[in-house]
Amino acid sequence: MKKTIFSLVASALVFASVPVFAGGGAVLEPPQHPWSFEGVTGKFDKQQLQRGFQVYKEVCSTCHALSKIAFRNLSDLGYSEDELKALAGQYKVIDGPNDAGDMFERPARPSDIIPGPFANEKAARAANGGAYPLDLSLIAKARHDGSNYVRALLMGYENAPHDMKMPDGMYYNKYFAGHQIAMPSPFSDGAVDYQDNSPETVQQYATDVAAFLTWAAEPKLETRKALGLRVMTFLLSLTVLLYLYKRKVWKDVKGH
Ligand code: HEC
Repeated sequence: MKKTIFSLVASALVFASVPVFAGGGAVLEPPQHPWSFEGVTGKFDKQQLQRGFQVYKEVCSTCHALSKIAFRNLSDLGYSEDELKALAGQYKVIDGPNDAGDMFERPARPSDIIPGPFANEKAARAANGGAYPLDLSLIAKARHDGSNYVRALLMGYENAPHDMKMPDGMYYNKYFAGHQIAMPSPFSDGAVDYQDNSPETVQQYATDVAAFLTWAAEPKLETRKALGLRVMTFLLSLTVLLYLYKRKVWKDVKGH
């Protein structure tokens, strides 16, 4: 009995650790980027997150929503309250019903979710040849090695190999499972005008927007890491103290 439970648990663990990919085809592991937020003391680079948001806003947001993020959450990126008010004011949201029972449009406020490009999934599919440009709020967590995957995917467009027939509206991408993706390559060098002196290249855009989407999926990453470090330090000091205490107690016992 014990044995069967043990082997059940063991096989469950093995299954859980095998990554599952949608679609077929060999999946290429994305190159590993040295992110600022990696490691136990990792932190987001706010300047990079702002550039990433700019890329999202100017490029990705024509197809993808970011439905877990309100304008005010962007204060994490270092924007002031006034900047966020001005940013929200560029968008319209549907509110209501008013006293007459009608829905109405008003300028967005910092507490509003950033409005997405489509009213619903059907509208999104209709505009993208049937494919669904999924919500990007959690994508960096939803995919294995998400930050590196998103970055690689955006840099992974190539001409299809000669022996592969690409259906209309599909693009070859070496990092997408099955290598055929319904998303066209979203940018080329120079597509986004950066305010700082960062290079305006596909590689830089891909890196910045992947960092931004990592923040979007886990805004509390820094707090989590800082807490983890504090807990580890505490446990380590406790271990040392208990060890010294144990030695003292046993010294007294042996002394008698
Ligand atoms: C013209 C519309 C369009 C634009 C612009 C666009 N996407 Fe997409 N994206 C799509 C569609 C459609 C899909 C679904 C593809 C599929 O399922 O084949 C998709 C899928 C994705 C996926 C999911 C891949 C997966 O593993 O399922 C990611 C990540 C992604 N897009 C990121 C981005 C980012 C980041 C940007 C901005 C730099 C962007 N997209 C711009 C249409 C777009």
